[in-house]
Amino acid sequence: MEIIRSISGMREFSGDCLQSNKSIGFVPTMGALHDGHLSIVRQSTGANDITVVSIFINPTQFSEGEDFNCYPRDYDGDIRKLDGLYGGKIAAVFMPEANDIYPDGYKTYVEVRGLSEKLCGMFRPGHFTGVATVVLKLFNAVNPTRAYFGLKDYQQCAVLKKMRDDLNLDCEIVLCPTVREADGLAMSSRNAYLSMEQRLDAPCIYKALKDTGHAIKNGSLKIKDIAAKLHETLSAVKSITEIQYASAYDPDTLDEITRGVRVLIAVAVKMGTTRLIDNILVEL
Ligand code: PAJ
Repeated sequence: MEIIRSISGMREFSGDCLQSNKSIGFVPTMGALHDGHLSIVRQSTGANDITVVSIFINPTQFSEGEDFNCYPRDYDGDIRKLDGLYGGKIAAVFMPEANDIYPDGYKTYVEVRGLSEKLCGMFRPGHFTGVATVVLKLFNAVNPTRAYFGLKDYQQCAVLKKMRDDLNLDCEIVLCPTVREADGLAMSSRNAYLSMEQRLDAPCIYKALKDTGHAIKNGSLKIKDIAAKLHETLSAVKSITEIQYASAYDPDTLDEITRGVRVLIAVAVKMGTTRLIDNILVEL
């Protein structure tokens, strides 16, 4: 497994692979790898000749006052986790330096209008512009045949698929299911911030999503009442200090809906300074 630290080195490596007709699966991450990340890597190694995992904590997707400086970093641990995993099909870990991605005088940003401002975008202005920009830059370095993203970050998936379509990118985008702890909490690098009490309360988020999902499926709850039900349930949880959004959304436009046959139920809450998101997609 090669560790590649520059865009030019990455382009050379992927150029060689593509010349020998090898498909490249790509898993972009910000590191502090957990089983959610690793399940995406496994999906890539199963479908491609080689897999590249990137680890880059992207400064432009953090807003002022967010956790960029204290975001969990464990580069050696991450490399140890990936080395030799899944039959050695992880060919390279791409760990660019921030000044290689954003050199002095950097000016170009990718804005996916319409999808970026909703849900998380309302509370994290500029976040998805940072995500789209870095993912396009990483794509240009890695030249992936297929790129893999987790549905835990549903809006990120929607924004990146739209970018792919609008910019005619020649890369398939594959969406991977959310991996959860045994008690249902969606795995996240940020779960490490939770106190013991918050961690004990955190599974209530998935439970609330699942309960409302079941209730609209069996007809005991209407889509228009999902938001009220979620707010009632989540506001009763001691560790939840803020509900940023909790409602039913159109899975394509991310607009809030009161009826429909495909429903994205999505939640963002804060437990103290830690922000947690989760969602489920329900087909009626
Ligand atoms: P990061 O939060 O490290 O996540 C990397 C990938 O893992 C994303 O596609 C994310 O959706 C996925 N992921 C995280 N937790 C997951 C879980 N519990 N189950 C399944 N997939 C999960 O998302 C980012 O990094 C960044 O925004 C990035 C795309 C790398 C751009 O900087």
